[in-house]
Amino acid sequence: MSHEKVETNVGLMAILIIIAISFGGLVEIVPLFFLKDTTEPVKGLQPYTALQLEGRDVYIREGCYTCHSQMIRPFRAETERYGHYSVAGEFVYDHPFQWGSKRTGPDLARVGGLYSDEWHVAHLINPRTVVPESNMPSFPWLEHNLIDAEQTPKKLSAMKLLGVPYKDADINNAKADVSGKTEMDALVAYLQVLGTAIKTQRK
Ligand code: HEC
Repeated sequence: MSHEKVETNVGLMAILIIIAISFGGLVEIVPLFFLKDTTEPVKGLQPYTALQLEGRDVYIREGCYTCHSQMIRPFRAETERYGHYSVAGEFVYDHPFQWGSKRTGPDLARVGGLYSDEWHVAHLINPRTVVPESNMPSFPWLEHNLIDAEQTPKKLSAMKLLGVPYKDADINNAKADVSGKTEMDALVAYLQVLGTAIKTQRK
């Protein structure tokens, strides 16, 4: 009887569906906020240095994430190519994380240490010089643009507000740390630290 009432009343049906889906969603999501695995940094994870943090902003501004993910899934095809699968504790200082979902280029979650700084510079100025068949765009201006060091301490403070454990000294030294550095220096510094908190063999 009551079942018939629900099936013949669209409004009631819609409300009950919303309740059922919300409950299912909450059951999946809420426990993650309290699980140590997802909220605690992995051992050895360091907050980004001022220069790396600036590099991360360049990465976001240039839209690198539109072609590159930073999320290695726990499948053999992925771990053989990219190294250990990504774990949540690697990203607790990332606001926002750069997992991405588009892979026109390779995943970059563990690209840190895979190439030399010089390789990255050459590759970013013109990818074809080191990977002849590459269709990645060139980013030659990064070499000429200086980081706006005035903004850097504020960026660290904002991250601290979000829970990244920066010390006062990190924030006070941030301006000096990036003064005179180019966006290229910053981006390469960022790329070189990606995925290095977990030691892993790649290639
Ligand atoms: C239009 C898509 C596209 C965009 C945007 C893009 N890339 Fe790429 N990227 C690629 C492709 C395709 C490759 C593979 C060929 C190569 O190595 O050049 C690649 C390769 C790379 C590699 C080498 C990865 C490896 O494991 O060998 C790095 C590092 C990289 N990109 C960094 C960046 C950065 C940093 C940016 C932003 C400044 C960026 N990419 C923007 C498409 C893109």
